[in-house]
This record gives sequence, C-alpha cells and structure tokens, in this order.
Amino acid sequence: MTVNKLAIIVLAAGQGTRMRSRLPKVLHPIAGRPLVGHVLTTATRLGADHIEVVVRHERDQVVAALTEAYPAAVFVDQDEIPGTGRAVQVAVEQLPADFDGDVLVLSGDCPLADADTLSAFVSEHRASGAPATLMTAVVDDPTGYGRVIRDVDGGVDRIVEQKDADADEAAVREINAGMYVFRAATLRTYLPEIGVDNAQGEMYLTDVPGLLRRDGDRVGASVVSDVTVTYGVNDRAQLALVGRLLNERIVRRWQLEGVTIIDPATTWIDDDATLAPDVTILPNTHILKATIIAEGAIIGPDTTLVDCEVGEDAIVRRTDATLAVIGAEATVGPFSFLRPGTVLGAKGKIGAYVETKNAEIGEGSKVPHLSYVGDATIGRGVNLGASTITANYDDVNKHRTVVEDEVHTGSHTTLVAPVRLGAGAKTGAGAVVRKDVPAGSLAMSVAPQRNIEGWVEKNRAGTGAADAAARSRVAE
Ligand code: UD1
Ligand code: CA
Repeated sequence: MTVNKLAIIVLAAGQGTRMRSRLPKVLHPIAGRPLVGHVLTTATRLGADHIEVVVRHERDQVVAALTEAYPAAVFVDQDEIPGTGRAVQVAVEQLPADFDGDVLVLSGDCPLADADTLSAFVSEHRASGAPATLMTAVVDDPTGYGRVIRDVDGGVDRIVEQKDADADEAAVREINAGMYVFRAATLRTYLPEIGVDNAQGEMYLTDVPGLLRRDGDRVGASVVSDVTVTYGVNDRAQLALVGRLLNERIVRRWQLEGVTIIDPATTWIDDDATLAPDVTILPNTHILKATIIAEGAIIGPDTTLVDCEVGEDAIVRRTDATLAVIGAEATVGPFSFLRPGTVLGAKGKIGAYVETKNAEIGEGSKVPHLSYVGDATIGRGVNLGASTITANYDDVNKHRTVVEDEVHTGSHTTLVAPVRLGAGAKTGAGAVVRKDVPAGSLAMSVAPQRNIEGWVEKNRAGTGAADAAARSRVAE
C-alpha cells in the first residue's frame, strides 16, 4: 500500500488590520506561543512531508519568531497579489514539481484545530476520494465567515464570502472554517483560473470548490461537531476568547493527568509547561513558559512562575519567580521575588519580602524575612537573619558573596561584596561585614552600646516619656 504524501501550507501573510497592532496578528501570543506557533506545533505533530508558511506582512519579524522553534518549516514569500488563493499558489509553486500528494491548508490565525481533529479530517478526505474537502461548522452567528452553499442533493456547490453574499446566502449558517485538504494536482489546475473579480479584489482560495463543481467534480465537506476548533482570531476580543478556550483545554488535560486545579478560570498554564501528578494549583496562578513542577508540590495562590523548576512537595505561595530552581520540600513565599539564577536547595526556605537573584542557596538553608540575596553562594544549613542584605553592587561592578555551611547572620547584617563568611561563622545584629570572616568567628561591627541614665527626665522634662520614666523609677 502506498501512503499519500502530505504537504501542509500555513497562511500567515495577512496584516490582521482588525487587531490594530504594531505586532503582526499571527505573532500575538496565547498560552506562551504565537498564534501561528500553535498551528505549526500541530502541523509538526501531524508529521507532514513538507511544511510551508506563507509570509508577507512584516515577513522578517514573522520568520525570526518561528525559524528556531520550527526548523522543518519552509518560509514562502507572497507577492503583491493579495488573497488566500494567491498565498496557496505561491506555496504550491515551491513544492517539488513531482509532488502529487495531498495539501492541507491551515490559517495562522486559527490555533484551536488540534492534531486529532486534523488527522481525522485528512483521513476523511482520503477515504472519500474527493479532490477537495472543506472543514465546515454550523454556527449561530456566521458573520464574517465564508458561507457554504449546498446544492439540492446536499453536496457542496460553492463558497460565498460575506462581502459577496446576497441576503439568502448571508442567512446560511454553515461556515467555511478556512481549513481544507486538496489534491496537489487540483490546486495546480484551478489556482491559475482564479481572478480578483470580487468585493475585496483578492484571489479567493474559496473559489476553488465552485470551479470543481463547474467541471462536474465532487467537493467533500467535513462538518465538525465542536465548532470551537474553527474559531479564528481577527480582533482582540477573539484573541481573548481563543486564549481562554485554549487554556481551558490545557487545564483539563492536566486535571486528567492527576493535577488538582482548584480554580480553572484563574489558572493559566502555558502549552510548554509540565506538571506531575498530585501537584496542587491554587487560584490566580500562572504557570508559564517551560516551567516544570514535580509531584506533590503546592503552587499558589497568586503566584507566577516563568521557566522555573519546582521540586517534589515544595510549597510556593504568593510568589513571582523567573528562571529559578526550587528544591524538593523547599518553601517559598509569601511575597517573594525570585529572579533569574536563583537555585534554592532541598528543604530550603525563601520567606516573606525576600528578593533573590543569581543566588545558590544550599540544602536546608533559610532566608526567612525581608532580605536581598544577589550574586551569592550560600552553603548548607545557613540562616540569614531578618533583613540580611548582600551589597553586591559598588556602582560599577557586581561582586559575589560566599557564605559557607552553617553560618548564622544576625538581623540586619549587610554583607559588602566581595566577601566570604567561613563555615560556622556568625555576625552580630546590624553588622556591616566588609572583610572576610574566618570559619567559626563572630563578626561585630557595631560600636558597644552606652546608656546615659536619667537623660530623658533631664533633657525632656514635662513630656509623656519623662513622666513615664519618673513613674517607673518610683514603682521600683
Ligand atoms: C477566510 C476565508 C473565509 C473563511 C475564514 C475562516 C477566504 C477568501 N476566506 O476569511 O471563507 O470563513 O477564512 O477563518 O479565504 N492570508 C495570507 N495572504 C493573503 C490574505 C490572507 O496569507 O493575501 C492569511 C492570513 O494571514 C490569515 C489567513 O490567510 O492567516 C486568513 O485570512 P483572513 O484575512 O483572516 O481571511 P478571512 O477574512 O478570515
Ligand atoms: Ca480570519
């Protein structure tokens, strides 16, 4: 048995005027990827022999955003002739001359058509033997879509664009989803026949079905039951809707994999994130980019993780973290800010109002309150007292702080980098540490305290403080 070859053409040359944006429409992101990126991810999953992306508007920006992530994609430039028909034509011209398989046409602005739906669509086309098959859907409000006009025996007769439709045609609720499978030969025969004599002055790909019917050929239609797979993005309201639908799908997928997600409506998970079974996600939490969360971890509420790695049974609440690694059974938050390069060891703690950056914090070490730890290597079993700060920046350069195992710093210690605290060392409260501290030493830098007795009554007579002091002296 010979298997038909498959080429996928993704249309991404349009400007997307209705977005009113500097950014090309197909590059607007949802779930951590540009719209057209989702289409290409699906195309890659389908496993085509050729994947072509048709570009024109801001072509360099579109190509730059996609080349690295989709090395199999070939970019084809559309010329000044407008329309989806022309876009497909330039792509077909780039296929090998002897390519005689099927061509799946997708739109860069329709990211919800998943690989299962599309592979069933291609199979249906192949089984039917029709030269072309459209994906259609019956919707309540067909505004903006091409209408599928059927003939008396129920077959597809033609597609009429909204702007070219008369009242009867406009009333049809079966719409063209903008996804098609054609035999390559059919496109080579009919695309050269398509003109620009229509309301928009464009070469409509949607003219092909009518031409096939004219020649007595049959056009297949695959009516999808879940109309959301056909949703496209033309404006920002649709961008939000499609983004929410995709997120619902991702959330549901993880729920079925064993993740507890308390509030799907306020949980946002990017397509590239990975969650293990028995993870719990509390409300208003964003799991973004390639974040990986291990079994049993509890994340949220009110937490954003970007490209982070969270270990087993860790607890991360009310935290904002980017490119950070959080060890197993560690706890982070509330109100912690973990910047890139933060690596917290197993059973470690980063607590309330703590900011970290480029900081390795060893196993079991704690930074519990009100600290800034930047450009630092902290050993195991360390406790940085409340408000310990690494002064890592001398206005010109950043310097490192090294804190060896089992060091305890007093509250409000300032570590002026570059500086090293040897194993087991301690600092007094308020110490400003400018010199290395040898292992096992106590570093003090605050002048001894002096109490001047009777100072308040003498210098502040008649104040509440003086009266209180006098009363307390009498009571003694
Ligand atoms: C198109 C269909 C319409 C269908 C709808 C489904 C045509 C003529 N109309 O309309 O029947 O119901 O999709 O969503 O095909 N593009 C190019 N080059 C161009 C023009 C567009 O590559 O010259 C790309 C766009 O970037 C976009 C896709 O083709 O990704 C669809 O273009 P768009 O202008 O959004 O078409 P619709 O008006 O939505
Ligand atoms: Ca569209």
